[in-house]
Amino acid sequence: MESPCVLLCKGLLLTASLLICWSSPTTALSAKDMWFSAAEGAKVLLYIPTEAKDILSFSWYKGKDEHKNFTIAHYEKSTDLLTFGNKFSGKEEIYKDGSMMLQNISQEDTGIYTLEIFGTDNLHEITYVHLQVYKIVSKPYILLNHTRLNGRSATIFTCVSPDTGISMTWLFNYKPINVTKRITLSPGNQTLIVSPVWRVDSGIYLCEVSNSFSSKKSRPLALVMAYG
Ligand SMILES: *[C@@H]1O[C@H](CO)[C@@H](O)[C@H](O)[C@H]1NC(C)=O
Ligand SMILES: *[C@@H]1O[C@H](CO)[C@@H](O)[C@H](O)[C@H]1NC(C)=O
Ligand SMILES: *[C@@H]1O[C@H](CO)[C@@H](O)[C@H](O)[C@H]1NC(C)=O
Ligand SMILES: *[C@@H]1O[C@H](CO)[C@@H](O)[C@H](O)[C@H]1NC(C)=O
Ligand SMILES: *[C@@H]1O[C@H](CO)[C@@H](O)[C@H](O)[C@H]1NC(C)=O
Repeated sequence: MESPCVLLCKGLLLTASLLICWSSPTTALSAKDMWFSAAEGAKVLLYIPTEAKDILSFSWYKGKDEHKNFTIAHYEKSTDLLTFGNKFSGKEEIYKDGSMMLQNISQEDTGIYTLEIFGTDNLHEITYVHLQVYKIVSKPYILLNHTRLNGRSATIFTCVSPDTGISMTWLFNYKPINVTKRITLSPGNQTLIVSPVWRVDSGIYLCEVSNSFSSKKSRPLALVMAYG
């Protein structure tokens, strides 16, 4: 059933060429990409503007594939029937304007969703919806180790976080700590080593973890050096 034009476009795998290829006057298929991002645990409404004066039917698919096997849901205007496919997970809510709400999203929801709309005037639209789910970092905590390194007193602070893909920084008395000969950071900043430890090192220590979307500080940890 596929025209040579369609095959050529699939070979090129370019949305731009899909647009050019299908813009012949007899057909009205158009493809576009849209991007959404939201935080883990939130709900996100995937609202896709359509050119259709009236929607005749639409389908949502999981992934970048308009195949029946990947159907989340299909809506048929003439019968007003919404049917769910095998990619329906239970967290989707489908609205008659073609939009889809995802509840309580998680990392696994990151990816591409495809919306295919058939409308009046022979309209056939495909939208690839790219959803990025951001992780909110959890609160880190500090482990403290008083020890000796190369015969000198040493205090090792370790910032503990279950999260990955984060950056870590340290605060001393609520200001960014300055690295010196005595105060050093491990690569990645997970540990802060003070050696030898002096009385001036008494104060409040905190570590802060962040990703591009969120950041959290540990509880303050007070270090008291009675002598040194
Ligand atoms: C669709 O599912 C059927 C039955 O599970 C399978 O035989 C077929 O290969 C699948 N097609 C695709 C494109 O995944
Ligand atoms: C949200 O999803 C997570 C897993 O992704 C689950 O542990 C949690 O119970 C869900 N919360 C609600 C309110 O459904
Ligand atoms: C404290 O640090 C020293 C030196 O790195 C290490 O040998 C020791 O096992 C650490 N102790 C604890 C309780 O983590
Ligand atoms: C380590 O900390 C320094 C400042 O203290 C910061 O500039 C740098 O980005 C941090 N590196 C990482 C990997 O978090
Ligand atoms: C680090 O150095 C800057 C500039 O000298 C200073 O303003 C800041 O207070 C220092 N931070 C700490 C924690 O001492």
